[in-house]
Amino acid sequence: MIKTKGLTRKFAKLNAVTNVDLYVPRGTIFGFIGPNGAGKTTTMRMLATLLRPTSGSIEIDGVNLLENPVEVRGRIGYLSDTFGLYDELKAWEYLQYFCGAYNVDASRDRIHAILDLVQLTHKSEDFVGKLSRGMRQRLGIARMLVYDPKLILLDEPANGLDPMARIALRDLLKQLRARGVTVLVSSHILTELSDFCDTVGIMELGRMITHGSVEEILARTRTHLRLILEVLGPAEKAKEVLQGEAQVINLEVAAPGVPAAASDTAPVFAKLEMGFTGNRQDLPVLHKKLVEAGVPVVAFFPKAENLEDLFMRLSTGATN
Ligand SMILES: Nc1ncnc2c1ncn2[C@@H]1O[C@H](COP(=O)(O)OP(=O)(O)OP(=O)(O)O)[C@@H](O)[C@H]1O
Ligand SMILES: [Mg+2]
Repeated sequence: MIKTKGLTRKFAKLNAVTNVDLYVPRGTIFGFIGPNGAGKTTTMRMLATLLRPTSGSIEIDGVNLLENPVEVRGRIGYLSDTFGLYDELKAWEYLQYFCGAYNVDASRDRIHAILDLVQLTHKSEDFVGKLSRGMRQRLGIARMLVYDPKLILLDEPANGLDPMARIALRDLLKQLRARGVTVLVSSHILTELSDFCDTVGIMELGRMITHGSVEEILARTRTHLRLILEVLGPAEKAKEVLQGEAQVINLEVAAPGVPAAASDTAPVFAKLEMGFTGNRQDLPVLHKKLVEAGVPVVAFFPKAENLEDLFMRLSTGATN
């Protein structure tokens, strides 16, 4: 759906975006991550035909964007990080206005279907100026949806939203994906993107430093696995076994599994964390050793590194 080659944008001497090769397949969600000034907005504005690249090419839905910007425009929706709405209209009037502007079906049913999709049906009669930030954000998305774009570009849509509104936004993006819409969404809030983006790109100083699925990036950059072991009762026995294992490094006892008072009868669990220099397929052998040594294993699993950990490891935090 999106293909860029060597995408570059300079502002005077500043290299805002340098040589970005981006590939986002149709019907997927791409998460665009980077610190302030990384070049996310600049890239999105070029994809939205609002800014001409200094060099490089952009193809959207098979169309060369630089040669046919008008043809591409009708297929994309762009929500900037600072968009405005018309506060003196009611929510439904606002959408009706845009249906008219885009010359698409402005029937009551259609407008209500869109309001329903973004969960604003109950605010249909309210003035736009009276809506909360999260609702305005959803109305902004609704405005893009009136002409059924195939690609939507959302610049930091989760900014300023409360946790519930973020979940609602995430669900909406997933629903759009299910309808075949391709979504590119930028954020600083990394953990938010990890569980619903199909691929992510990490940008720094105008360059895309990593690009791929979260798992792929993790596999590429991982030095070793992190393991978590939970056992019933004290950690001692497990610790003894693990200390004798060459593949286990940096063993830490996160919880010793000892009751606070001798009179406590509730079960107590110990937790151990460690690095593991072997592969995933070596884990059953280690698990078997623990069990055979009589360690009462409650849980034994590799720790999933989240996007935040990954970002911190990859990024130096350098900004323009
Ligand atoms: N119109 C412009 N003129 C001059 N410099 C610009 C312009 N737009 C952006 N820049 C510069 O380009 C660099 C990248 O900015 P951009 O807005 O793309 O970053 P961003 O990743 O979106 O950051 P943020 O997370 O803060 O939104 C910055 O150094 C910025 O100052
Ligand atoms: Mg930005």
